[in-house]
Amino acid sequence: MFGRQYGNGNEQNAIHEASSSSSASPSEASGTLTSREVLLRVEGLTKQYRVGGTLSGYRLVRAVSDVTLSIHAGETFGLVGETGSGKSTTGRLVLALERPTSGTVTFAGQDLSRVSGKELRTLRRMMQPISQDPYSALNGRMRISEILAEPFAIHGVAKGVERRQEVEHLLELVGLPLDSLHRFPYQFSGGQRQRLVIARAIALRPRFIVADEPLSALDVSVQAQIINLLRHLQRDFGLTYLFISHDLPIVRLLCDVIGVMYMGKLVEFASREQLFGAPAHPYSHALLAAVPVTDPSKRAQRKKLYLSGEVPRATEVLTGCVFHSRCPLSEARCVAEVPVLRSLAGGRLVACHFAPVDENALIEAAKSRNASVFATAAIDSGASK
Ligand SMILES: Nc1ncnc2c1ncn2[C@@H]1O[C@H](COP(=O)(O)OP(=O)(O)O)[C@@H](O)[C@H]1O
Ligand code: SF4
Ligand SMILES: [Mg+2]
Repeated sequence: MFGRQYGNGNEQNAIHEASSSSSASPSEASGTLTSREVLLRVEGLTKQYRVGGTLSGYRLVRAVSDVTLSIHAGETFGLVGETGSGKSTTGRLVLALERPTSGTVTFAGQDLSRVSGKELRTLRRMMQPISQDPYSALNGRMRISEILAEPFAIHGVAKGVERRQEVEHLLELVGLPLDSLHRFPYQFSGGQRQRLVIARAIALRPRFIVADEPLSALDVSVQAQIINLLRHLQRDFGLTYLFISHDLPIVRLLCDVIGVMYMGKLVEFASREQLFGAPAHPYSHALLAAVPVTDPSKRAQRKKLYLSGEVPRATEVLTGCVFHSRCPLSEARCVAEVPVLRSLAGGRLVACHFAPVDENALIEAAKSRNASVFATAAIDSGASK
């Protein structure tokens, strides 16, 4: 039921445990969710920014390059990758807050580039953001009653007593007391503010929420409560989430399917069980290997994979595979030829010439190419490989 604060200390452990054990095998996950309605379809989505200098001297940042994905109604789609991989830009494009350089976003069957004015506003009601920073997301000069009434006022929904009741109900839904109405944002903790941000996002009963790193400013115990709240709201309102995060244990806890981004490209798309059971792209292996293991008994068996080479600059023109400068398996073909996102068993998609890539092969290759870095990693992890 709503009206109470979800979460207790136990979920904190759940987040950590999620990082250190795998669940179902990839084959068990085959065909998940695909029978549901496609709510959001992104095709060939590309966003380039001009940066620096004059008209003749500008450089291009390829923030998002040719991303194609589908999000099914009622699922949580996780988008992961290091900082700068294009996750937030994808989120803004999906919400039509920015126009793509090329490609399309289709939401509930409507191509967002072809709608404007009233039609776009109606669609926007169904798609809401939850941002990373609950401190700047709420106007500090407004009372909570005004903040939560704003979406209704903007869209001309509910008036007078009805609007007040809706606002009170929102507070109940996110587990905050009614006397919050007369207070200002600075009188709330970070977790409570994120509850208010969520309350505002669900005010008009959207179908789709883009949550961009919504937990990163919060303590671990508060994160667990917000995760619980998001789950309950999803269940009770049939919400679909695009959950953007670099925190893999949280993604594992919350997401049904996951897209891995690197340098603006989608390099792997897989179900939770597939990705965390056996990643298929070398970059996915590296991301998973970088997750800290909190359980000391499991830390000793942990194999770590360190990448060599530099992360390319965002303005660099890359040939072949975007990951070739850091990939332990890279060879001549990887520099010359762009790997297409191709389908592997169980419906997962991977953009690597040699996928699915096995962890041991990757570690052997990393060892032979950069023995000193690997030796440090081996000592670090307590493994004697
Ligand atoms: N408005 C902008 N102008 C120029 N470059 C941008 C802009 N927004 C994002 N970028 C660049 O695009 C790349 C992807 O950024 P972003 O989508 O924020 O990645 P992430 O959310 O994965 O950290 C980065 O190199 C970033 O610096
Ligand atoms: S295509 Fe080559 S460089 Fe790219 S991930 Fe696969 S093995 Fe590594
Ligand atoms: Mg971001």
